[in-house]
Amino acid sequence: MNSPAMQGLDLNVPAHVKNARLIAWVADMAALCKPERIYWCDGSQAEYDRLCQELVDAGSFIKLNPAKRPGSFLARTDPSDVARVEDRTFICSEKQEDAGPTNNWMAPAEMRATLNPLFDGCMKGRTMYVVPFSMGPLGSHIAHIGIELTDSAYVAVNQKLMTRMGKAVYDVLGTDGDFVPCMHTVGAPLAAGEKDQTTWPCNPTTKYIVHFPETREIWSYGSGYGGNALLGKKCFALRIASTMGRAQGWLAEHMLILGVTNPQGRKYHVAAAFPSACGKTNFSMLVPPAGFEGWKVTTIGDDIAWIKPHADGKLYAINPEAGYFGVAPGTNTLSNPNCMASLNENVIFTNVALTDDGDVWWEGMEQDSGSKPAHLIDWQGKDWTPEIAKETGAKAAHPNARFTVAATNNPALDSQWDDPNGVAIDAFIFGGRRSTTVPLVTQARDWTEGVYMAATMGSETTAAAFGAQGVVRRDPFAMLPFCGYNMSDYFQHWLDMEHKLESMGHTLPPIFCVNWFRKNAEGKFVWPGFGENMRVLKWMIDRIEGQAQGQETLFGTAPTYAEINWTGLDFSAEQFNTVTSIDKAAWQEELKLHGTHFEQLAYHLPPQLLETRQALEKRLAEA
Ligand code: OXD
Ligand code: MN
Repeated sequence: MNSPAMQGLDLNVPAHVKNARLIAWVADMAALCKPERIYWCDGSQAEYDRLCQELVDAGSFIKLNPAKRPGSFLARTDPSDVARVEDRTFICSEKQEDAGPTNNWMAPAEMRATLNPLFDGCMKGRTMYVVPFSMGPLGSHIAHIGIELTDSAYVAVNQKLMTRMGKAVYDVLGTDGDFVPCMHTVGAPLAAGEKDQTTWPCNPTTKYIVHFPETREIWSYGSGYGGNALLGKKCFALRIASTMGRAQGWLAEHMLILGVTNPQGRKYHVAAAFPSACGKTNFSMLVPPAGFEGWKVTTIGDDIAWIKPHADGKLYAINPEAGYFGVAPGTNTLSNPNCMASLNENVIFTNVALTDDGDVWWEGMEQDSGSKPAHLIDWQGKDWTPEIAKETGAKAAHPNARFTVAATNNPALDSQWDDPNGVAIDAFIFGGRRSTTVPLVTQARDWTEGVYMAATMGSETTAAAFGAQGVVRRDPFAMLPFCGYNMSDYFQHWLDMEHKLESMGHTLPPIFCVNWFRKNAEGKFVWPGFGENMRVLKWMIDRIEGQAQGQETLFGTAPTYAEINWTGLDFSAEQFNTVTSIDKAAWQEELKLHGTHFEQLAYHLPPQLLETRQALEKRLAEA
């Protein structure tokens, strides 16, 4: 985007910033956005504290009771700005087919012509923060650098928790290092002398979350929330990074990474993909249940994995993030005790409810305290009581209310979470949310079958999120909203990995497919989930160690009842059958739906996936 040279505004480039491309870009963007001032973030604690105080002074942050929640704040957003906006998210590749049928697309020139007038003067009356961040441990060969320009102090302080943000990034960047430019504005310029009339400036009507994959740029307009605004996360670490990974032979995935150590001290690392709202954070912080004494699960990441092949024949993964931006409602000491412990101090909460004693509350916390509070201020700043909730259905916290917290708050943090070399991946897991059809766990018989399982995975919609309840939304690899290029080319990239890696002497990790969400005839979940998922994880490790034979099923190799450690859980063979059985008629329907899904992805669809579907059909017919 061309813009006139800077006039009048001092760039204030700090002496430690020596990257000519960066300085020129900041100058261009300042000339375009016309902020009142420019501030270069150094990532220090003093800076964080000062910016948080400024947000308190502006009414955007409420400081929580330090006796209850030290160092923590609550932000309430505009009701129009509460979640990622998938319908306003664009992949602007030169050719539409390179964005594929699952992404919104606009030609780059047209999008630039649309954005240019919107960004022209968009930061008037505001500060432009220059936020340098590393996705991944500083200097790691797997990591990459981004610079976000934003007019939101909320974004700057969130980025301090979510990324390795600060001055040290410039040392890695040097004079000519590469970075992904990330432009962000809330899209609410102020006229001369005008003051904000709101504590959450945003543009309630116009939002654009735009990616230019060929030039590796991100432009975000109009929203201050989460993945729309913290551009290191979904925009960079998934959409842009997936295109980088395709070009450079690595993988950027919507996966948690966990370490699991057995009582003998042998440690495995697992990367697992689940669609949004399927308990990824819970799984990444799992506490082994009774019957698993001596086992330990540790978190490397809760949302995103960057995975690169290494000369030793293994795939190494890092978590590019340094914090968690997790959904608060539903989190409690039953679903995720480690997460609850992570939230004791130094947290930014967004859109949760405020208690009368200056603490936070959200739906699901009654599980811990035994009852709901008698009075709260809800996420919109209104009075809330259980009676009001009963009458109006009002939620105290927004269903997508969030916490932002540094990974170092997590008591289950893996000792290698910050290792620049990453951790060697021993298994991949793919899991959807299906009340029928997909069994508790199966192992793909080969890489192609694993890619097939991942390519066809789906999640049943909840009424709140997508309208009709119970409709299967296919979410291949849990990447539907996050793949920066044509989904079928992405499948091909995964398939190609097999030959590429084998020719480099690699043994590929096994691929497992899981479904924690099967329901019985009464519509109740059968599998208890949460910590009990450890039983499934252990079976996977037994498979890796060659200690579980499993049994062949239509959909891969499954555990027998006897192969699962049931100590400490009363779960009958009949219940096990309910979560593992394969219903022939339901699978015939399911395979038809796979066919429809593949028709939608026909452009460049790898023929191996159609062949795998045919083989499944044949096996089913013969069953
Ligand atoms: C997330 C998501 O917020 O996947 O992580 O939506
Ligand atoms: Mn996610």
